[in-house]
Amino acid sequence: MRFSSRLGRSLDESPWSAHVREARARGAVRFDLTASNPTRVGLGPDPAQSAKILAALSDPRALAYDPHPQGMPSAREAVCAHYAREHGAAVSRERVWLGASTSELYAQLFMLHCDSSSEVLVLSPGYPLFDSLARLVGAEVARCPLAFDGHWMVDADALARAVTDRTRVIVCVSPNNPTGSRLRAHELASVRALCAERGLALIVDEVFAEYSLDASDEALVQSATREASPCVQWTLGGLSKSAGLPQMKLGWAVLSGPEALVREASARFEHVADAFLSASAPVQCAAGALLSIATELRPRILERCRANLALARATLTLETGASALSCEGGWSLVLRLPAVRSEDEWARALLDGEGVLVQPGYFYDFEREAFAVVSLLTEPERFGEALRRIAALSRASL
Ligand SMILES: Cc1ncc(COP(=O)(O)O)c(C=O)c1O
Repeated sequence: MRFSSRLGRSLDESPWSAHVREARARGAVRFDLTASNPTRVGLGPDPAQSAKILAALSDPRALAYDPHPQGMPSAREAVCAHYAREHGAAVSRERVWLGASTSELYAQLFMLHCDSSSEVLVLSPGYPLFDSLARLVGAEVARCPLAFDGHWMVDADALARAVTDRTRVIVCVSPNNPTGSRLRAHELASVRALCAERGLALIVDEVFAEYSLDASDEALVQSATREASPCVQWTLGGLSKSAGLPQMKLGWAVLSGPEALVREASARFEHVADAFLSASAPVQCAAGALLSIATELRPRILERCRANLALARATLTLETGASALSCEGGWSLVLRLPAVRSEDEWARALLDGEGVLVQPGYFYDFEREAFAVVSLLTEPERFGEALRRIAALSRASL
């Protein structure tokens, strides 16, 4: 039997994954700081919200199958209403494409823009799924490091130098996972100009757009859908984060750019989307109701993230040797730990000695050691105790 080489060389479990699996089996993970699913950390819908969600999912219109490559017009209108309400952006339903998740839309967009051996240029540290998604369509990921001087920045010159003849797409995630950094207006403008000049598509992943943890800076981009783009731009979002309901499986991509390019991209993307027709009728019929319930679900998530961020800043003080890096949005926080141990050694010492599970920074391609990534969704008591243990271990290592 032969299998595609697109799956990569080895599917073996990594030593760290095996270590975590064994620790979980022994019941040794007492403080899991890696949970990124709100429904698992007490942030799912309450009984009244659950009743509304279930009612929305029993719309009789879902009994008919009337597929549309872009998704049902009513569901796309619900996405437009979401952008108008949350971001003051005027998005037309003709520019909205629905899929089962943003992960799937990424894969479909890579199919649209890439050939085998094309490159997708991403910023690092960043979301690790891009490697698998690109590889599954035969493309490759190339990385350009973000610059850091207290907050993370796109280095426009470095990004321009990282573009090769094989580059087809640049991906920017804002707020970024895991750095929590949001694009500033001048950064978005320079990436757009680069894409326009080099004939590249830009994907702006805004799945965490409604989770702003530091609204003080006027220059931060609220949503890339708010103004015209000089290049083909796909802005991604979905119920997974916007409503904290990953199980609903509805994501969207909003296309913008110069009219002629948008027309061509739409005509071609219709072929890709038509091959999958992946958003289910029940979730599309429920989209309007789910996005309106999302406005009730988000405040609790946001409040948890803000409280945990404040707790981290208060606990990881200078004398602990550990610190919480700047975080402008999203659900994750980067901790810097003393470079006396490697990231792997830190993660193991925290797990084996303290029962604290973190993600080692190398999952996300940090340029230097030693970083750990923690989820701001964690229950506050657990988060607080875990931070005290991290602080103590860090101080002891100095
Ligand atoms: C930055 C980013 N983009 C996309 C996704 C995938 O979301 P979805 O559930 O819509 O596939 C995630 C999931 O954590 C993410 O962190």
